[in-house]
Amino acid sequence: MNELGAAIVGCGSIFPLHAKALTELGGRLRAVVDSDPVRAQAAAQAYGCEALTDYRELALRADIGVVHLCTPHHLHVPMALAMLAAGKHVLTEKPMSHTYREGLKLAEAAARSGAQLGVCFQNRYNDPSVRMKELVRSGELGRLIGMKAVVTWHRDEAYYTQSPWRGKWATEGGGVLMNQAIHTLDLLQWLGGEIVSVRGSVTTDALGGCIEVEDTAHARISFANGAAAVFYATNGFVENSPIDLELVFEGGRLAQRRDSLYLRKGEEEEVLLCGVDAPCGPPGKSYWGSSHVSLIRDFYACLDSDTPFPIDAWEGLKAVKLAADIYESSGTAVRAFS
Ligand SMILES: NC(=O)c1ccc[n+]([C@@H]2O[C@H](COP(=O)([O-])OP(=O)(O)OC[C@H]3O[C@@H](n4cnc5c(N)ncnc54)[C@H](O)[C@@H]3O)[C@@H](O)[C@H]2O)c1
Repeated sequence: MNELGAAIVGCGSIFPLHAKALTELGGRLRAVVDSDPVRAQAAAQAYGCEALTDYRELALRADIGVVHLCTPHHLHVPMALAMLAAGKHVLTEKPMSHTYREGLKLAEAAARSGAQLGVCFQNRYNDPSVRMKELVRSGELGRLIGMKAVVTWHRDEAYYTQSPWRGKWATEGGGVLMNQAIHTLDLLQWLGGEIVSVRGSVTTDALGGCIEVEDTAHARISFANGAAAVFYATNGFVENSPIDLELVFEGGRLAQRRDSLYLRKGEEEEVLLCGVDAPCGPPGKSYWGSSHVSLIRDFYACLDSDTPFPIDAWEGLKAVKLAADIYESSGTAVRAFS
């Protein structure tokens, strides 16, 4: 693990995943930062490091080379810009920005910087995602023709009152598209390649009166290689169901169910990857969404070997652009980008 000292900004819900991963990987977590001093102190105590309340102090710290951003969406760009300007590597939580315009600004700054910026799209590291990408790349199943992605999750009023930056255009930058389903949008664009057109729509079906942003969205996405994807996402379901992802090729179809991957050719179905919660797999927890450790390990390995981290700012921006195109197609561009 890298010798560089690390700091994490934002000690809320996602913080423990970063702190635990760093600890498990033998990283050097030197400071945690939260504008709420009670949260900063509690986190510092739990991980035996220093507590700060102003992230700008990190810029002056020679003992800190990497800064993880686990803050509300609208703070990612100003914080990342300040850290890159100070020569710190940045690993930001998704989405890299709360608007496409801001994200573009950050991608340009990151390209000019001598430091690296990575975006936390950890689902690319899930075993089924890796296998699906290999099969798209190899052409083993013929040309990719279509994809289907369905995200049906549950978020209630308490989720939004607990962190008031959520649910607002100015601070979250969008709803289910920018926060929950951004991972799935990222997988679709990663697997499908260059996008040529997007037609979609967003609505607030379940949480009207509680949030400004959308809780439900759908889209049809056309790719330069001729493939088409249909996408549906909602925070208005009664529970958090496993994401349903299907890829149709000329010579077969792949289906991800939880963390297992199935290949169907004609009437024959084969298990390509057997997840821990499938009848064929060992007992344990589902892998879906639990790849923070893999991503963080890879980020630090890239820093160690001075090689580019694959999910850089330009790569992280693609999902933000896709979300922006769905808003625009839905006529919500003015609210989303004002
Ligand atoms: N990759 C994933 O699967 C995943 C899952 C959950 C959340 N996230 C992302 O993590 C980020 C944080 O989400 P969360 O759910 O942990 O939010 P949260 O509201 O639980 O935590 C945010 C923390 O940031 C702190 N903060 C706010 N302003 C600050 C400032 N100026 N300086 C320092 N600290 C400040 C808050 O006090 C709070 O403790 C978001 O980008 C979110 O989308 C990613």
